[in-house]
Amino acid sequence: MDIDKKVWEILFSEEDILNRIDELGGQISGDYKDKNLYIISLLRGSFVFTADLVRKLDIPVKIDFIVTSSYGYETETTGTVEITGHIEEDLTGYHVLIVDDIVDSGLTMKKVIEYLKAKNPSDIKSCVLLDKPERRQLKLVPDYVGFTIPNKFVVGYGLNYGDHYRNIPYVFAVTDEDR
Ligand code: IMP
Ligand code: MG
Repeated sequence: MDIDKKVWEILFSEEDILNRIDELGGQISGDYKDKNLYIISLLRGSFVFTADLVRKLDIPVKIDFIVTSSYGYETETTGTVEITGHIEEDLTGYHVLIVDDIVDSGLTMKKVIEYLKAKNPSDIKSCVLLDKPERRQLKLVPDYVGFTIPNKFVVGYGLNYGDHYRNIPYVFAVTDEDR
């Protein structure tokens, strides 16, 4: 698929996204009020979402990043999720919230949950801007979801295609229609 040759359709404007993140930030701040919150953000796709989300939290939070990859230059998961940037510390006593751009097959989130479990946190939850439940390959329901979307390839606001378009401030879907 060459997305430059396809019609794009805006799914969520910058304003839609920021309004929803404001709500999520309020909810997470309330839920983690008396807990040691530790956000683990999955690079690269979630860097924009994470930056906006954490600025809507009014509670203390530690933030770190790990790098996951599974897509290469295609629009389908390769099925093999690799973790390349690591968390060195023990997570005992922390309530971990994994932040990612999107849950699609669920393979990435599952792999990261397994990886972090070994570091002994008090609990692990997940927060994603977008959820594409139709594509799930395993049972996984994210705890916090910005928007649930149909089975479309989406780009922008951190989400990439061929390592481009991450800087676009809104989320668009690539249609089947030629330009
Ligand atoms: P999963 O392992 O199939 O759930 O996919 C998770 C990862 O694939 C996400 O962290 C995204 O980086 C990427 N991904 C999944 N769907 C899309 C999409 O529609 N556009 C861009 N990236 C996607
Ligand atoms: Mg990703």
